[in-house]
Amino acid sequence: MNDNLHQLRCFGCGARIAGADALPDFRCAVCGDLFEVEYPGWSQRRGPDRPNPGALKWLWRERKSSAEALDHSGVWRFRELLPILDSFGNAITLFEGNTPLYHLPRASKALGIDQLFAKHQGMNPTGSFKDTGMTSAMSVARERGFEWVACASTGNTSAAMAAYAARAGLRSLVLIPDGKIAWGKLSQAMDYGAITCQLKADFDGCLTLLTQIVKEAPIYLLNSVNPYRLEGQKTPAFEIAEAFDWNVPDHLIVPGGNLGNSSALGKGFRELHDLGLVARVPRISVIQAEGANPLVRSLAVTHGASLEPVEAHTRATAIRIGNPASWRKAARVIQDTGGWCLDVTEAEIAIAKAELGAEGLGCEPASAVTLAGLKKLRAQGVVASNETVVLVLTGHTLKDPQYTIDYHRNALLTEAEMAAATPAERASHAHLRKQPIVLEADESVVLHALEAQMAAAHASRIPVAPGIPV
Ligand code: F0G
Repeated sequence: MNDNLHQLRCFGCGARIAGADALPDFRCAVCGDLFEVEYPGWSQRRGPDRPNPGALKWLWRERKSSAEALDHSGVWRFRELLPILDSFGNAITLFEGNTPLYHLPRASKALGIDQLFAKHQGMNPTGSFKDTGMTSAMSVARERGFEWVACASTGNTSAAMAAYAARAGLRSLVLIPDGKIAWGKLSQAMDYGAITCQLKADFDGCLTLLTQIVKEAPIYLLNSVNPYRLEGQKTPAFEIAEAFDWNVPDHLIVPGGNLGNSSALGKGFRELHDLGLVARVPRISVIQAEGANPLVRSLAVTHGASLEPVEAHTRATAIRIGNPASWRKAARVIQDTGGWCLDVTEAEIAIAKAELGAEGLGCEPASAVTLAGLKKLRAQGVVASNETVVLVLTGHTLKDPQYTIDYHRNALLTEAEMAAATPAERASHAHLRKQPIVLEADESVVLHALEAQMAAAHASRIPVAPGIPV
């Protein structure tokens, strides 16, 4: 498994090229589609030549306690399955990955599902799942001698890229939609030294513009059209399989924006299966915001044969994307694994985010679509109570504190949205909102307020998580 021979295979027409021959926009010169990294050596290895699954699993676990720096990365710990570098010595790492998998006792109980977990990718070094893909693609950029890297972003990609570029000693250019990204993310790009351009355009407009720029200037494109991004982003699939002792969960639920992440996780599980490391792959479902749902529409209308871009609107700014680049790959993952693709409303996202917060697991609004989507799937009767389900939480709650504050202060949803709320949603809002209480700085006043809270808390006891997270 030490062969670092990889090639790029076009997802549309199947054309194969060497990694170094990719065009700056990573589009196929024949048909314009995107590439996937392929390891020809793997399919040639049959019978005794196949890697020994037991030995690999042992090695990956052993590395968790190794003294070598690269082994501390939850991405490069699995480097046998992403041999994309000429030398692993060129890897740029912030010790990403190895993120926690939490049981969700309250949501489990509410939904009547025994085994419901959250894989919290917001616990990565820059606070989002993008770090796992940035370590791999940034390492390729450095190995190939680039001095400049760039991305268009709704915020998290730019934060991750800026940090990894700083570690690699490269310069970075960020194009972001003006006024439409969360402050936490913008502050990171600035802090890590990126040249940050706020454009009067949405994410899709920024990406289109950047695609032109990289054809003119020697800049390495680090959006998820870059197939090396997906190689790092597939590794949470390995961590999840490992956490379940290589018996994969029944169902994985992922938010959908530009659709790189769902594509990458699907690839990760498929490769584990092809190499004989797991016996099956989980169902993979993708959830979008109602106002940014081009994949939902594509699958409903054309069964994924074509995609009509939409003008995207959602407060979950991370997934405010109307023309997702990796839609074909994601559609294939959903179809091949028997997953679903559906959308959720702004109110459903807000409630799900507050519910995850109330479990002690804050996340970004874009991550909360997973719980909102699971609730819908459960209501439709397509997820059974005995299934093991994993929600992929993609970003940390502190990325977008304004959203959380607005929600709890009852300033997030418009009057029209509140008027349209179902009785169940109203009850959820009333139960979940925790407004700050403004009081006199007086002991008896605070105690009085506390008594009222204690009485209310006693009336609604809640299940608690086991002491040790799974
Ligand atoms: N969740 C978060 C927190 C994100 O930042 C993103 C994408 C997604 C979900 C969707 O993932 O695009 O792979 O389908 N953020 C990108 C960015 C687009 O620029 O940070 P996807």
